[in-house]
Amino acid sequence: MKESLRLDRYLSQATGMPRSHALTHVRGGHVTVNGALVRDVATHIRVDADVVLLNDQPVQPFRPLVVALYKPPGVVTSTEVGASQTVMELIPQALRHRDLAPVGRLDRDTSGLLILTTDGALNHRLTHPKRHVDKVYIADLARELAPNAEERLARGIVLDDGPTLPAKLERLGPLRVQLTLREGRFHQVKRMMVALGSAVLQLHRARVGGLELPADLAIGQARVLTEAEIALLTA
Ligand code: URA
Repeated sequence: MKESLRLDRYLSQATGMPRSHALTHVRGGHVTVNGALVRDVATHIRVDADVVLLNDQPVQPFRPLVVALYKPPGVVTSTEVGASQTVMELIPQALRHRDLAPVGRLDRDTSGLLILTTDGALNHRLTHPKRHVDKVYIADLARELAPNAEERLARGIVLDDGPTLPAKLERLGPLRVQLTLREGRFHQVKRMMVALGSAVLQLHRARVGGLELPADLAIGQARVLTEAEIALLTA
């Protein structure tokens, strides 16, 4: 969290209101900082120290929002309103902060754990290729993989956008595998499986970092993560 923020940004991030509304409130004389009326939106607020009131109500120092969604298949990972249903439409209205953004993407037909956050730094940490955050997928395959698949994946295989980092394959059945990746490229699991000779029929993400898909989430449901769960993401 930044230590100090411009007043309009602070109000916007704390409440989810657009900055233009924050500006109207400040100019309208609705906002005090440490008991003094402030009409300058450029005033800097020390996030952990200053007391900001909007219409006499405290504006809590904001905490970034981190949400887990059990994404169903058939929903696109996008914040844009379009013809298809998006993951944003599954987020409860109260959590639809305008800065809430998905952490990476799951394909339309993939189900499982999708994290969304207003915390740009956390988003970056979880998606940056150099950070190597584990992602665990369960894939149902059209064909059984050859006996050397574990070894090939552990060494890294070459895709059309370059070699993959070592990945761990565990067989859960003849046509069901668990794959742990440390990167997140476009259609990566599907392309890796095709390179090993099988199409993916169904794909599910079971874990991001150290966080399993929360067992209390039904498919299509989302909720705010606890501090302990957030810590697991980067553990
Ligand atoms: N790999 C894929 O191929 N698709 C996903 O949705 C996620 C990882």
